[in-house]
Amino acid sequence: MKNIVILGSTGSIGASTLDIVSRFPDQFSIVGLTAGQNDQKLEEQIRTFRPRIVALSSKTSAKALRSRLQGHPVEILVGEEGLCTVAQDTPSDLVISAIVGGAGLMPTMSALRAGRHVALANKEPMVMVGHLMQEEALKQGTKIFPIDSEHSAIFQSLEGHRREDVRRIVLTASGGPFWDWPVEKIKNVTIEQALQHPNWKMGAKITIDSATLMNKGLEVIEARWLFDIPAAQINIVIHRESIIHSLVEYRDGSVMAQLGLPDMRTPISYAMNYPKRIPLDPPLLDLGKIGQLNFAPPDFVKFPCAKLAFDALTEGGGLPATLNAANEIAVQAFLDKEITFLDIPKIIEDTMSAYTPRPLNSVEDALETDRWAREKASSLRNVAIK
Ligand SMILES: NC(=O)c1ccc[n+]([C@@H]2O[C@H](COP(=O)([O-])OP(=O)(O)OC[C@H]3O[C@@H](n4cnc5c(N)ncnc54)[C@H](OP(=O)(O)O)[C@@H]3O)[C@@H](O)[C@H]2O)c1
Repeated sequence: MKNIVILGSTGSIGASTLDIVSRFPDQFSIVGLTAGQNDQKLEEQIRTFRPRIVALSSKTSAKALRSRLQGHPVEILVGEEGLCTVAQDTPSDLVISAIVGGAGLMPTMSALRAGRHVALANKEPMVMVGHLMQEEALKQGTKIFPIDSEHSAIFQSLEGHRREDVRRIVLTASGGPFWDWPVEKIKNVTIEQALQHPNWKMGAKITIDSATLMNKGLEVIEARWLFDIPAAQINIVIHRESIIHSLVEYRDGSVMAQLGLPDMRTPISYAMNYPKRIPLDPPLLDLGKIGQLNFAPPDFVKFPCAKLAFDALTEGGGLPATLNAANEIAVQAFLDKEITFLDIPKIIEDTMSAYTPRPLNSVEDALETDRWAREKASSLRNVAIK
C-alpha cells in the first residue's frame, strides 16, 4: 500500500490521480490533499478518500470547510504554510505535485526537503529553479518522477540506455487549436476558442499555454533539468495527433519513442507505480484505424513563446523565472478578457527585456525575481489594456 499526498487535488491532474486511486484501493491510500480555494470539491474528496490532513490556500474557503466538517477527524490547514506542512510533515511514500503555476514552488520544495519522492506535473517550479530542485533531490536521496506525458515518454525511452549515447531528445507538441490559422485570424481569437484543445482536457492555464506554444517552451526547460540535458540537444516537433508522446534519438541513429492514446492516467500511474505498470486497460491503440501520424517543424515566428523559453534557458540565471511569472500574469489577463491573445508573447518578451541578469542561487532569489517579474508584467498588462 502506498500512502499518497496530492498537492492540487481539485484540478485536472488531481482528479485523474484520484480516479486511479479509486480504481486500485488496495494499492493506494490518500493521506493528504491540498487545493487553492475550491472547498466544495475538496470536501467531496475528503468524504470519499478520508485523508488525515488537508490544506487550502484561501482563508475564506478553509473557514467555510471547517464549519461544514465540524466533528470530522480531518485536520484542515490554511495558507502556503499549511500547504507546505501537508507536503512535508505527512508521512507519505509519494507526493503528487499538481498545483498550477509558481504557487506550487514552496509546497513542492518542502516535499523534497523532507525527503519525499515527488511525482511532478507542476512544471512551473522546475522552470523557475530546476537546478535547485534536482540538487535537493540528490541531497535527500529522493526521486522526481515526471508526470507530463512528454517527460514520462522521455523517461521511459531512456530506460536501459546509457546517457552518454543520447544525441538529442525530441518533444512532441500538438500545436494547439491555432496551429494552421493565419496570423490575421489568430489576432482575434476568443477565450472559448483558445480553451478548445484538440487532444487533451486540462486546466485553463495549461490549455492557453498549449495554444501559445508556451507549454512546449516550459517543457523544454523542464526537460533540461529533469534529464540533465543541454538546450542544444532538445528539439520540438509538431505532431497533431498526440499519439507519440516524445522521442529520444541515440548516436547510432536509433530512435526510441513512447506511444499511447492521449490519457493522463497513463503517465500518472507510471509515476505512481514505477517501475511497475497497473492494468488501466484503456482502449487498444489501433494504428491501422488511425492510419497516419502527421508531423511539422515548429513555427517560432507565428508562435514566439517557445522561442522565448529557449532564449530564457540559454541565458539562464533568473530569466526562466521571469519568463514564467510574466506568462502567468499575461495568461490570467487573457482569461480575464483584459488583453488579446497576441498581447501574451508581447508582455512576456517586454518583461524579459526589462530584466537585469542576476545569478539565481537560492529559492529566495527565485521568489524575489518572481515578485519583480509579476509587477513588471502587470504594469505592461495595464498598458496593453489602455
Ligand atoms: N492537466 C493536464 O493534463 C496536465 C498535463 C501535464 C502537466 N500539467 C501540469 O500540472 C499542473 C496542474 O495542471 P491542471 O491542468 O491540473 O491545473 P488545474 O486543473 O487548474 O488545477 C490546479 C490545481 O492547483 C490548485 N491551485 C491553484 N492555485 C493555487 C494556489 N495559489 N495555491 C494552492 N493551490 C492552487 C487548484 O485548486 P482550486 O481548484 O481550489 O483552484 C487545483 O487543485 C500544471 O503545472 C500543468 O502545467 C497538467
